[in-house]
Amino acid sequence: MKSIAIIYGSSTDNTREAAELIADKLADYSPKLIDVSDATVEDFESADVLLLGTSTWSVGELQDDWDVFSSKIKNLKLQGKTIALFGVGDSAGYPDTFVDAIGILYDDFAQTGAQFVGEVSTDGYTFDDSQSVRDGKFVGLALDADNESDLTESRIDAWVNDLKQYLD
Ligand SMILES: Cc1cc2nc3c(=O)[nH]c(=O)nc-3n(C[C@H](O)[C@H](O)[C@H](O)COP(=O)(O)O)c2cc1C
Repeated sequence: MKSIAIIYGSSTDNTREAAELIADKLADYSPKLIDVSDATVEDFESADVLLLGTSTWSVGELQDDWDVFSSKIKNLKLQGKTIALFGVGDSAGYPDTFVDAIGILYDDFAQTGAQFVGEVSTDGYTFDDSQSVRDGKFVGLALDADNESDLTESRIDAWVNDLKQYLD
């Protein structure tokens, strides 16, 4: 069984709550749940699988605590590890930058040599543009606590079930 770290950045608790729900769903794997404002390089480098969550702020930017951590990303030794991304945004208020920060983390962590999994179809979402969409899919799980909180749990369930193939 792989070791999992769920590392998140959250300004008004929505991404934290999503991270906690993901941790509950993966309780059998005893994941470590870490706020990125407390995270160390060791937290990233000691896990086999990293589930990384961020909200999007300031119109298409990373959540603040991730922004502070981001200068360390390029030096992380993550070759051979698996990363899955998740993020929370507001598709009605920010339809042109919906969950952009997932795409920013994707680009930042692409330099580390880790393998990304957990892409999600854009079917069922309403937005105009997103940096997190590559080749027609979200590069991670997109959530919208402002407008579609009723869909959060089912979206997490589907994503976690898809991820389980990478966890044994
Ligand atoms: C000033 C401001 C800017 C925002 N910019 C974006 C944005 O560009 N794209 C997006 O999808 N959501 C945007 N949001 C919505 C937040 O990402 C959303 O409310 C999210 O749930 C916050 O999660 P957190 O509590 O984990 O930080 C913005 C919200 C505010 C208040």
